[in-house]
Amino acid sequence: MPPAPSVLTRTEEQAPAGAADVRGRWRERFRAVRAETERRAAPLAPEDQTVQSMPDASPTKWHRAHTTWFFEQFLLLPRLAGYRVFDERFAYLFNSYYVAAGPRHARPRRGLITRPDCERVAEYRAHVDAAVERLIAGAAESDLADVVRILEIGLNHEQQHQELILTDILHAFAQNPVAPAYDPAWRAPRPRPPTAGFADVPAGLRTVGFDGAGFCFDNEGPAHRVHVAPARIGRALVRNAQWLEFIADGGYAMPSLWLSDGWAAVVAEGWTAPGYWRERDGVWLAFTLGGLATVDPDAPVAHVSYYEADAFARWAGKHLPSEAEWEVAARADLLDDAFGVVWQWTRSAYLPYPAYRAPAGAIGEYNGKFMVNQMVLRGSSHATPAGHARASYRNFFYPAARWQFSGLRLLDYDL
Ligand SMILES: [Fe+2]
Repeated sequence: MPPAPSVLTRTEEQAPAGAADVRGRWRERFRAVRAETERRAAPLAPEDQTVQSMPDASPTKWHRAHTTWFFEQFLLLPRLAGYRVFDERFAYLFNSYYVAAGPRHARPRRGLITRPDCERVAEYRAHVDAAVERLIAGAAESDLADVVRILEIGLNHEQQHQELILTDILHAFAQNPVAPAYDPAWRAPRPRPPTAGFADVPAGLRTVGFDGAGFCFDNEGPAHRVHVAPARIGRALVRNAQWLEFIADGGYAMPSLWLSDGWAAVVAEGWTAPGYWRERDGVWLAFTLGGLATVDPDAPVAHVSYYEADAFARWAGKHLPSEAEWEVAARADLLDDAFGVVWQWTRSAYLPYPAYRAPAGAIGEYNGKFMVNQMVLRGSSHATPAGHARASYRNFFYPAARWQFSGLRLLDYDL
């Protein structure tokens, strides 16, 4: 039996290379990721960065500080001799869910943290940035691999929060009657010209899960074999034009199409269309990062929950792919827009892979303790930082969630 994976598998810096090259490369990568967070926050005023529009969403300022705390807590405190904590109170404010790292502020109350202000958070980031660079430059040769291992987790963690900065501010701005644009020049991602129809998923015993060089999260392994039944998978993402047909056909009014919990959500939330859609004089508009825009029939549908994706698939006489079917098809290059447009719901519950064990210590809380009651999404969205996702990447959300850039593709077992 293969050993349980660590959060990190083999990484580039363990390949033969001069230590100076390794340090320089990681310093540049650290700077690039940290700068991308600031780039995403830059269009936002301090008022924008402080608001929390729902318990699931966090203020931009909190994301900027929390990702910084992650480096301070898991990299600097254990590994940089003489490191001076920037502010002892920040661990309580900016720890998200790491029980092993101590008590923390209640998640739904993050919007009440008006102090520290944005300026102080910027100082916190600068303080930690300088310390991390000192560590990269000065770590003993024998410690470098361990330093890089935690650094790489921290950078991938920060990239996940970069996507959340956009999805969370979109939700906040959507509550504002003047419908502010995060970026007036933003346009819905244009999918590739659709490849018509469905493609045969390679059937039989197939290997899924991360099995290569480079970084992966612990939840992507161990790689293992699954039996894939004969099926055909939609090459293209489901588009708004199809969703408009679903609406026009009464899709949101037919309980027979919905899971019981899904129908309860439709009734409780009053869903009649995807998240952020608004009907004005018979025309559907969508609130986007660019402000209000007419729904583009050719764009992939986004901001649908698992429940809606499941109901749509039933209405269409099709299915959602399992995560294994999705991964096998992606590896065979059968999917248009697998990455970089919208995440795609699968019908797979978020569960540990066979023989999975969470890593020891607080970092083991990163993924393992969430492996119940959520559903897996595959691919990535246009808000996902470049280079962050891969074929084995497992995103997960509760089935009612729809503030992420979540869409779907279909699967057909009628061959
Ligand atoms: Fe986090």
